[in-house]
Amino acid sequence: MAVTMNNVFTSVSAAIEVVELTRWFGKTLAVDHLHLSVRPGEALGFIGPNGAGKTTTMRILATIDEPDLGDALVYGFSCTNDPERVRRRLGFMPDTYGAYPNVTCIEYLDFFARSYGLIGRERSRAIKRVLDFTKMHHMIEKPMTGLSKGMKQRLCLGRALIHDPEVLVLDEPAAGLDPRARVELKEMVANLLADGKTMLISSHILSELAEMCNRVAIIEHGRLLASGTIDQILEQYSTGSLTESGQRLTTITIGFAGDGERLAEFLKSRASSEVRVRGDQIEFLGPEDAEACRALLHELVSLGFPIHSFTPKPKSLEEAFMNVTLGHVR
Ligand SMILES: Nc1ncnc2c1ncn2[C@@H]1O[C@H](COP(=O)(O)OP(=O)(O)OP(=O)(O)O)[C@@H](O)[C@H]1O
Ligand SMILES: [Mg+2]
Repeated sequence: MAVTMNNVFTSVSAAIEVVELTRWFGKTLAVDHLHLSVRPGEALGFIGPNGAGKTTTMRILATIDEPDLGDALVYGFSCTNDPERVRRRLGFMPDTYGAYPNVTCIEYLDFFARSYGLIGRERSRAIKRVLDFTKMHHMIEKPMTGLSKGMKQRLCLGRALIHDPEVLVLDEPAAGLDPRARVELKEMVANLLADGKTMLISSHILSELAEMCNRVAIIEHGRLLASGTIDQILEQYSTGSLTESGQRLTTITIGFAGDGERLAEFLKSRASSEVRVRGDQIEFLGPEDAEACRALLHELVSLGFPIHSFTPKPKSLEEAFMNVTLGHVR
């Protein structure tokens, strides 16, 4: 099956397809002819500075907002023309949601189960499945208003999962969570992926997003700036400085015992003028290339320098993000 839209031909091999998506708020162009594609069973990390248009895109996918131009498709169904079919296949975890006074967690889940048309045993089974998955059994009678941030996020994820959707759209699910709750969230995302779900996940905690997602898309001012696997993005955009001869440099930290001055002098003559000694560690700008690193390490060891570690700075998604985006907050 294929769908033609705005003269763009798209296929349903994608679980999520965002095509020419455009949304204005007054004079603000929140989403600007955005194209995105998420394959079935994949988790796409959705990155961008504040005001980049992530939430707007996600809300359109969740059928609670409409584009001015273009469309978003979920398994080929249009969010604008076929929102009912989209809703059946998609669960949305918003970045904020209202807590209703005097409503307990179980009542909240039950309400959403009913609103998805689940009845009788089917509804009880759906609620039990969600409580098992999110490990929320102990808190079902708690009022929503008294929940910790971590518990709120669990409940909100549970609500998104209640109709067992194939596609999940999670808007900053890790925001405000303590380290343990973040680890637990990562585990839940991994389990959902293992279960074959497709996910679009936004976050500003890029190191964690890199752990949860297969690919990332970076947007700014509503436009796609870069997309690819984490390795592709790191390779292309997370680069160290360049020498005049075109050699890429990165920060390398060496742990040593004994005479740091002699080692620092050698590194200055051999690798770089930027050498800093800090206690029993030396930091310097050295080659990024793995072969050149190996050669330098080999030379240090064969010259008898008492080094016990040699660590080139790992490439980071943060660095790639800083290199790709301009950072104009809107
Ligand atoms: N309801 C609205 N009314 C007016 N402007 C809006 C509305 N919703 C979003 N915007 C504007 O659209 C732009 C995109 O906002 P959006 O919330 O989608 O960004 P975001 O990438 O989710 O940012 P953040 O990382 O801060 O969550 C911003 O300039 C924002 O001010
Ligand atoms: Mg947002």
